[in-house]
Amino acid sequence: MIPVARPDLDEQEVEAAARVIRSGMLASGPNVVEFEAAFSNYCRTAHAVAVNNGTAALHATLLALGIGPGEEVIVPAFTFFATASAVCMCGARPVFADVDEDTFNISIDAVQEVISQRTRAVIGVHLFGQPCAIRPLQEICGERGIPLIEDAAQAHGAMYHGKKVGGWGTAGCFSFYPTKNMTTGEGGMVTTNDPGLAEKTREIINHGQAEKYLHVSIGYNFRMSDISAAIGLSQLAKLDGFNSRRKENAAFYDSHIRAPGIVLPGTAPGAGHVYHQYVIRVRDECRLSRDQLAEILREKGIGTAVHYPIPLHKQPVFGECAGHCPMAEKLAGEVLSIPVHPLVTDDEREYICRCINEVG
Ligand SMILES: Cc1ncc(COP(=O)(O)O)c(C=O)c1O
Repeated sequence: MIPVARPDLDEQEVEAAARVIRSGMLASGPNVVEFEAAFSNYCRTAHAVAVNNGTAALHATLLALGIGPGEEVIVPAFTFFATASAVCMCGARPVFADVDEDTFNISIDAVQEVISQRTRAVIGVHLFGQPCAIRPLQEICGERGIPLIEDAAQAHGAMYHGKKVGGWGTAGCFSFYPTKNMTTGEGGMVTTNDPGLAEKTREIINHGQAEKYLHVSIGYNFRMSDISAAIGLSQLAKLDGFNSRRKENAAFYDSHIRAPGIVLPGTAPGAGHVYHQYVIRVRDECRLSRDQLAEILREKGIGTAVHYPIPLHKQPVFGECAGHCPMAEKLAGEVLSIPVHPLVTDDEREYICRCINEVG
């Protein structure tokens, strides 16, 4: 089976983790310090704070920004659950904005529709590796003096108008889950150019400590381990290579998949996509349904996935009054992710195109 996602790890990561294990110093230590410096340098941000997953990165950032009960945070309706659940973890309410058909990313018109006096922040997600429309979001947030958070969990190394994501907003939040463009096993990172925000985030992720055993707030243990950071350093050195291969695979699909009713993913002007996922849409004109196509591909040894089958405003936990986002609903019924990760071989990508073109 060609898996839809697979981490690219080798002896370098094994050796990096082994070195930390041999040292006996497993908790947050010198590798975390080095990884933070390397990641902030990579993203060209002044600060980076390592955490134990991407959800914690969002949660800690929102808390550090002082977001709390009674306040609203705008998030796209079409993204992974954690973008919205992190808002709820702070006692605030996610307000869902619909998304654009071509890019799957948050729609600026939809943000304008749902923004209100209660809006305390906007989270723009760079979904599937494609930067969202950051400049228009910056303008909207700037006018109101509210922070813009980039959820860059799926977009390590993606560029927006020639500059890396993670350094555009008030903060950037990354995930290093194993299927992501780079991994630390589990892990996350907060990037920012604001020294005060970086310091507050460090306090929150370490039991609210301002200094050792001096607790100035109720924080969490969201720290990254040194084993994870050692793996992350090795992966970061390979990230541009991983992303180049993802882009090559995506370009191959762009020029070789031709089937009625199959729509290929669009790219917005100025967006340097890193194809965390390559997401096709299976429209009504296709002679198979999305789920039938997925099943046939599975029988042919090709793994696929649906990211995401239920838009957030339709999730039971958010109740019945979570807004109206028709595009997110339509996309949830059409999307299908096909293997684009760096370990997909030339032969495999040719085979994938042939199978889709035959059956689609
Ligand atoms: C868009 C988005 N935001 C946040 C997260 C949360 O990251 P993690 O799984 O590391 O907690 C993910 C992870 O899948 C994600 O895709």
